[in-house]
Parts: sequence; structure tokens; C-alpha cells
Amino acid sequence: MRTQVGIVGAGPAGLMLSHLLHLEGIESIVLEARSREYIEGRVRAGVLEQTTADLMAEAGLGERLKREGLLHHGIYLSFHGTRHPINLTELTGGRSITVYAQHEVIKDLVQARIEAGGQIYFDVEDVSIHDFETDHPKIRFRKDGRPEEIDCDFIGACDGFHGICRPSIPAGVLTAFERHYPFGWLGILAEAAPSSEELVYTYHERGFALFSMRSPTVTRLYLQCAPDEDLAQWPDDRVWTEMMTRFRTTDGWEPNQGPVIQKGVTDMRSFVIEPMQYGRLFLAGDAAHIVPPTGAKGLNLAIADVAILARGMAQFFKSGRRELLDRYSETCLRRIWKVQRFSWWMTSMLHRFASDNDFDQRRQLAELDYVTSSRAAMTSLAENYVGLPL
Ligand code: FAD
Ligand code: DHB
Repeated sequence: MRTQVGIVGAGPAGLMLSHLLHLEGIESIVLEARSREYIEGRVRAGVLEQTTADLMAEAGLGERLKREGLLHHGIYLSFHGTRHPINLTELTGGRSITVYAQHEVIKDLVQARIEAGGQIYFDVEDVSIHDFETDHPKIRFRKDGRPEEIDCDFIGACDGFHGICRPSIPAGVLTAFERHYPFGWLGILAEAAPSSEELVYTYHERGFALFSMRSPTVTRLYLQCAPDEDLAQWPDDRVWTEMMTRFRTTDGWEPNQGPVIQKGVTDMRSFVIEPMQYGRLFLAGDAAHIVPPTGAKGLNLAIADVAILARGMAQFFKSGRRELLDRYSETCLRRIWKVQRFSWWMTSMLHRFASDNDFDQRRQLAELDYVTSSRAAMTSLAENYVGLPL
């Protein structure tokens, strides 16, 4: 097989890259280890920055997002039993966020690729990448047990944190920057109408909790937990008791309860590799970096990377010039490190660290008090939350 860009992974990064390249008249083939049903049902992130929603609309993917996405103009930070509003739209000159589940983004992208005759191979096995330090990279894989090979001009490494592309780069080329957090998030989806019009980020002495939603009838909630928390220890009634304890405010606000339809634990880390390119291999999304989920940046960063990568590839295929591609890593990393900083800051401000003493707790509360009372501090949070420019 021959294509211009071989893409490993059909997550948001790989599918969006393939779609953006198609809009530029560039062919690609996407290889995905899982089935279409699996990737279209995988519950993950839910908040799209204005920057991401704008990119989707410009790429012709905005119709269902506009119809079904929930537009939000603010968030609450809650502590000491009180919810404090941060009006994102007012603080950022009219920008906002949209709640739209990651698997809905995936469904829209898969449909757009298939309608345009794009090639996505699901359920592939034994993917390996070769010769990417030359001008003729190759991807080998098995489909239905048969060996296949793709010859291409570039490889898009969009295979997530546990993918095969990053480890295929020779030792000594990449530098990893990493931080682990001593906690995780226990997340549930519940069939219950959201009881707050905006997301609520809660600091509580028992640990962080986050109120979000997916639709007018589905609430999404998270609790800070141990990184290796055993879900078997969390029957629904224990989850609800803990949620209510952390969320309930002195004015009587609390989430509505309903049947729990999904439950999972996410671990938390910050991770960046530098550089994000080697020869004709370009890493994008979780293959190159991970943020802790506080601030909802993972999916948004993945989309930003491939928007920058697609521009570089478009320049190359139209003119043979490589300036944008050569600067891909540098361009992305400037923004990635700011998003890393923001995600680390939100995480540090809102979670309980076992190593913290009473001084640290007072400092966290002072920071929350400052952020919810100083317009300058609120504006900084807001402009990062709705998404920095590309
Ligand atoms: P991925 O979505 O991971 O896509 C990579 C794709 O590559 C996958 O489909 C995988 O099956 C495929 N793949 C892997 N290896 C191979 C291979 N060898 N061959 C072929 N295909 C392969 N972010 C937030 O902002 N908020 C959240 O609440 C949040 N919750 C999350 C919960 C979980 C459990 C996880 C894992 C992530 C969560 N994230 C969240 C992060 C966000 O979902 C990711 O940042 C986003 O999915 C990154 O997109 P991506 O395309 O780079 O990678
Ligand atoms: C959601 C996830 C996040 O990490 C976040 O900061 C806000 C919302 C969500 O899944 O809805």
C-alpha cells in the first residue's frame, strides 16, 4: 500500500490529523488496534476549549457539536461550602467552553472520514514502524492475520501514551519530563439531570471532587481517590455518600442522584517528551504528552498538535518547503508547556496531598480565595481554561 501520511492510532489526534490532511488534498491511512465500536464508546474527556470548538467548526465538523454540545460561559470553584462563580465569557472577551463527550468527537470524525472515502483500518495487530529516519518510512501490521506494509512520506504517531511509536525512536534522542501525582480520580456517569448549570471544581478536606455533565439527563462526577483505587470497594451507595459529603454547600446545593451507568479510575501524571519529531516521524497528542485531567486539557492539546502538524504537512506537499514541519516540535512545545503549567496548577490548588501540613492547606485556601476574588487572577484562570491561541 502507498499513501502520503501513515497514521498510527484513531484517537482524536489521529482522526483529526487525517481529516485536516484530507481538507488540504493530502491522502492518509489510519491504523487502529481497537474496533470502531470500542473507540466510539470509550468514555473519556468531555470539555472542548473554544479553540477546539472553533477548529472543529472550521473543519466542517461543527454541526452536531453546535446542536448537541452544551455551551458554558463559566465554572464554579467551591470551597468552605460555598460555590464561587468564574465568568469565563466576560473575562475573556466572549469566549466559552462546550461540553461534548470525547467519544462523540470520535464518532463525528470517523463518519467524516468514511463519507469522504478515507481509509481507516480497525482491529489491526502487530503494528511496527520502520525507516522513518529516511525519506521512505514504512509501517507494517497484520490485518485479519495477513501481513501488510504501507509506504509513506511521513508517519503521524498518534497512538497514545502506551503506543508503539515513541518507544521505536532510538535511545538517547528523546528527553522525558515527568511528574506523578499521589492520587487518581474515580469517575462516574449517572442518569441524573445536572443540578448546576456550570461545572463545579470542589476543594474539600476529604479530597477534590468535580461536578460535570454530558447531557440534560446525564451527570458526570469525579472524586479524588488513591491512584490504585479498587473499584470493588466502591459500591454505588459509598460513591454517593462520598460525593454528597464533598459537594454539599451551605446553601443546600448538591448533585442529583440517579443510576450509575459507568465507573472507572484514572491515574494522574504530567509527562512531556522533547522533541516531538525524529526524521519523518511526528508525535502528537498523548503519544508525546500527558496532563493531569484537572482543567480538561488532554483532548484539547491533542487537537492543537495536529492542527499545527497538518499546516506543516500542507506546506511541504504544496511547495516542498519544510520550515513549518522543522519547527513543529518547537511550536507545539511552547504551548504545551503553558498548558502543562496550568494543569499542574489547577491540580495542586484543588487536591489534598498526603504530604501537606496545615500550612499547605491554609496556603491552598488562600490561593482559592485569591483566585475567586481578584479579577486579575480570575482572568488568568479564564484565558487558560477557554484555551490559549494556537
Ligand atoms: P488516544 O485517545 O489515546 O488515542 C490513541 C489511539 O491509538 C487509541 O485509539 C489506541 O487504541 C490506538 N493505539 C494504541 N496503540 C496502537 C497500536 N500499536 N497500533 C494501532 N493503534 C494503536 N482528558 C481530559 O481532558 N479530561 C478527562 O476527563 C480525561 N479523562 C480520561 C480518562 C482516561 C481513562 C484516559 C485514558 C484519558 C483521559 N483524558 C482526559 C485524556 C484524553 O482522553 C486524551 O488526552 C486524549 O484521548 C488524547 O488523544 P490521542 O488521540 O492523543 O490519544
Ligand atoms: C471533565 C473532565 C475534566 O478533566 C475537567 O477538568 C472538566 C470536566 C468531564 O469529563 O466532564
